[in-house]
Amino acid sequence: MKIAVLKESAPGETRVAATPETVKKFVGLGHSVSVQTGAGVGASALDDQYKAAGADISADGGVSGADLVLKVRRPTDGEIAAMRSGAGFCALLEPYGDRGVMEVLAAKRIDALAMEFIPRISRAQSMDALSSQANLAGYRAVIEAATLYGRAFPMMMTAAGTVAAAKVFVMGVGVAGLQAIATARRLGAVVSATDVRPATKEQVASLGAKFVAVEDEEFKQAETAAGYAKPMSAEYQAKQAALVSEHIAKQDIVITTALIPGRAAPVLVSEAQVKSMRPGAVIVDLAVAQGGNCPLSKPDALVEIGGVKIMGFTNLPARLGADASSLYAKNLLNLLPLLADKDTKAFAPHWDDEIIQGAMLTRGGALVHPHFAPKSAA
Ligand code: NAI
Repeated sequence: MKIAVLKESAPGETRVAATPETVKKFVGLGHSVSVQTGAGVGASALDDQYKAAGADISADGGVSGADLVLKVRRPTDGEIAAMRSGAGFCALLEPYGDRGVMEVLAAKRIDALAMEFIPRISRAQSMDALSSQANLAGYRAVIEAATLYGRAFPMMMTAAGTVAAAKVFVMGVGVAGLQAIATARRLGAVVSATDVRPATKEQVASLGAKFVAVEDEEFKQAETAAGYAKPMSAEYQAKQAALVSEHIAKQDIVITTALIPGRAAPVLVSEAQVKSMRPGAVIVDLAVAQGGNCPLSKPDALVEIGGVKIMGFTNLPARLGADASSLYAKNLLNLLPLLADKDTKAFAPHWDDEIIQGAMLTRGGALVHPHFAPKSAA
């Protein structure tokens, strides 16, 4: 099949959906690849490298003739208009955002897969873009916090005196939170963490961090079958806030990553808690695009209150464009066998496969994902 790789146009986006390495693999598998001019620049992958890997480079990325179009982010209306009816499309489609894009994709009869919906089963781990990107985001959150913090992370004993170790508190211990804990520990901080899912308690301890949470009956039930957090009751949130308040007041860095799929992010650091922190403390809010875990955080802007710096990042993986692209491109490469006929190499999604069923948003002109489809079509 013909695969088109488009250049991202979202502000601040550095990632690209294919790297010269994955293009070479696609070509080796018998597909042809066209890449839009300059698509990889933000990820340090130049047109010549794509060309050497076997791709055609063109101003429109060959989108109109493509059987499968690959992107990192949602397509623009112009891109959808240029796609051929019946083509496949894969990207991080932000499915819980504005559903207009999905309807435009359906109207154009594009078979679109949301990479966020790749099911979290072991066979799909190598295709799991949420994990590959969240892992880098967790790492980068700590690096960003360290640069905003006017002090050092590790304890240092010098002739001129002792520098205290930074105290880092990670709220939300999913993929990003675990990597944040590991990174802060590597930098020498004293790390603690909280989550509402009981399974995280052991994970936090295994990384050498302290677990801080109200462990009542509700906490013991707070995980869905898919492994995600459930929204917690107002009572639980109040108990947890009281416990955490005392802890937050003593922290130098707070990194929040708490999300509940398809809902606004829970508020975990209140204005009063921010005001209880000492000047120079830093909060990095990774949930800001979903409303934020701290009501004071602003998307991609630094807010300072009483000397406390609050930074909300909407796209931390883009700050590691080369690595984030490399992992995302491999997620797509690993998905490819489920999108192509093994013998003819034609675009032929394996409709019966639970990975395709889980991730497919639109098919044959309709919104088919159970979360969005009209009840009769779901
Ligand atoms: P996420 O990005 O949806 O949320 C981040 C974290 O915030 C989660 O740990 C969640 O429990 C936590 N959280 C939500 N509300 C909270 C609150 N009120 N207070 C404190 N923390 C709160 O999570 P992510 O990173 O997508 O991971 C979700 C689950 O999926 C985890 O169990 C993870 O281990 C699992 N997973 C499984 C994979 C597989 O089996 N292939 C691959 C990747 C993740």
